[in-house]
Amino acid sequence: MIKFLDLYKINKRFEPEFQKKFQQFLDSGHYVLGKEVKAFETNFAAYCGTKYCIGTSNGLDALTLIFKAYLCLGNLKPGDHVLIPANTFFASVLSVVNSGLVPVFIEPEEETFNISIQEIEKHINPKVKAIMAVHLYGQLANIGAINTIAEKHNLLVIEDAAQAHGAETETRIKAGNLSHAAAFSFYPSKNLGALGDGGAITTNNAALAEVLKKMHNYGTERKYEFDLIGYNHRLDEIQAVFLNMKLAHLDSDNLKRQEIANRYLSEISSKKVELPFYDGSKNHVFHLFVVRVKNRDKFVSYLKNHDIETLIHYPIPPHKQKALINFSHLNLPITEQIHKTVVSLPISPVMSNQEIAQVVKIINSY
Ligand SMILES: Cc1ncc(COP(=O)(O)O)c(C=O)c1O
Repeated sequence: MIKFLDLYKINKRFEPEFQKKFQQFLDSGHYVLGKEVKAFETNFAAYCGTKYCIGTSNGLDALTLIFKAYLCLGNLKPGDHVLIPANTFFASVLSVVNSGLVPVFIEPEEETFNISIQEIEKHINPKVKAIMAVHLYGQLANIGAINTIAEKHNLLVIEDAAQAHGAETETRIKAGNLSHAAAFSFYPSKNLGALGDGGAITTNNAALAEVLKKMHNYGTERKYEFDLIGYNHRLDEIQAVFLNMKLAHLDSDNLKRQEIANRYLSEISSKKVELPFYDGSKNHVFHLFVVRVKNRDKFVSYLKNHDIETLIHYPIPPHKQKALINFSHLNLPITEQIHKTVVSLPISPVMSNQEIAQVVKIINSY
């Protein structure tokens, strides 16, 4: 069986180092907001090229904290509208809704699956105060154009970089450093994955960072003196131990993903399978390799019968979820069509050449 993603194999590579580091962690006697979290925040800010990084409990909390911090600073007000891609993971939407803001769903570009610039422009009005750029599947959204629109209309830009650790622009600026503030997830399956939940916020804004440092820790940086209404959304110290180690391997893991993607792109020749757009640069770190097919159920069961596991990212768009019944009337045909036709093929830094060749061979005889 070729697994969609073999998390055991991914982490097994680091077992001796994990064990050594775990022993040091245990011996330290310091298990929350210790030196590993501090070190990770410094290391990840340096990696992304930002002035600040605040570790968080997960990616959803990272995104939500950004909105809540902007509300706290007065840059956003309850009820403000946020433009958000209609085809994203549900957590992107939850962060907006849970902050008392209103999501406005924007259709994507078919080619990249990322938010359409033309559609953003059509939806600008005085209620809109922010744009969320999701770097879906690991490919940077058209952030240059998004930032230009945002500057013109004085809007905030927030990156959901949960799937794009290490993706960079032509001028080598990384995801996380392309907007006012960015959220990352370190869920185990991510390109930089913890051994449990984890997340981070990156920003160059000192005032925002100051609020976030307090807000993710009950509203304080000093014990028992609370400056604002906060939460317990801290990055766990043990996860920071693992993340500090794995960060050193992120670039080589991303390179491996790009190599696999290049092989799929050049070797898959079935006319029934629409391959994703890739310009060959580092702007895509292939968190997922997503193809489109007409008769998806048939394709997925064909691969399953040949021992190849696939997943669907995602089967139901946010506006058609039961939880968002008030949005179900929306007409978003591109998004809905994408959700009906996408299939994610196995891709990960631990896939063998043999496995890659097998996926290609089976698809080409579909
Ligand atoms: C695009 C996107 N946004 C947000 C999240 C939420 O991150 P987490 O699972 O760490 O809460 C994820 C990942 O799960 C994601 O893929």
